[in-house]
Amino acid sequence: MGKIIIFLGPPGAGKGTQAQFLNKDYGFIQISTGDILREAVKKGTELGKLAKKYMDEGKLVPDDVIVGIIKEKLEELGDANIILDGFPRTIPQAQALDKMLQEKGKEVDAVILFDISDEEVIKRLSGRRVDPKTGKVYHIEFNPPPKGVEVIQRDDDKEEVIRKRLEVYHQQTEPLVEYYKSQNKLYVVDASKPVEEVYKEIKNVLKL
Ligand code: AP5
Repeated sequence: MGKIIIFLGPPGAGKGTQAQFLNKDYGFIQISTGDILREAVKKGTELGKLAKKYMDEGKLVPDDVIVGIIKEKLEELGDANIILDGFPRTIPQAQALDKMLQEKGKEVDAVILFDISDEEVIKRLSGRRVDPKTGKVYHIEFNPPPKGVEVIQRDDDKEEVIRKRLEVYHQQTEPLVEYYKSQNKLYVVDASKPVEEVYKEIKNVLKL
């Protein structure tokens, strides 16, 4: 049966970067609620218009909207190996996910917590650049884009929005650490290490 892995951690911890590696090397399908929302904003859909207000302020989009998106995606992907990147982010989202999976006779297989300090996050996000064509993530210092690749900066990577996102993470998302610890599903990786070392730790956890 397909595995369901959750990447949990503050903004800028490297969740998206590592999800891309697991996709490339092992075919895991990455579901990033942030990417889905940004795509909707770009296309100017109803969802995008609603989400933009929250995202620009670094706040969370309402739970029912997000849960609806995930439900649809999980239906679509059937039995694939999946990484949930940026979902769940609140206790009600986690409970909704457990219920959704239960109905299919499945459960979350592992939750990987990306452990990193707020200072490191600010350093990383202010240097993050994204290739709008492929969605690939770079860093001007730690992982510079190849020559000829044009990159942009995300709207919510301004310092005051980053600080708000961190505050929201500590208040609303961090309680999930206890939630998954009590289910014996939590694994912690040191996300402050270089990209390749973090990847090694994750592969160890997932026995890949
Ligand atoms: P989302 O897109 O999920 O943002 P996030 O969780 O804040 O995560 P990021 O994408 O910022 O960081 P990341 O951990 O993926 O780091 P990355 O790999 O890019 O959400 C955006 C918004 O959408 C939210 O604020 C909210 O409004 C809304 N939203 C989304 N999901 C929601 C939900 N479930 N409920 C409600 N609202 C929701 O790496 C960061 C940088 O560091 C890059 O430049 C990278 O190159 C570099 N880097 C990565 N790893 C390393 C390393 N080991 N060493 C050095 N540099 C590194």
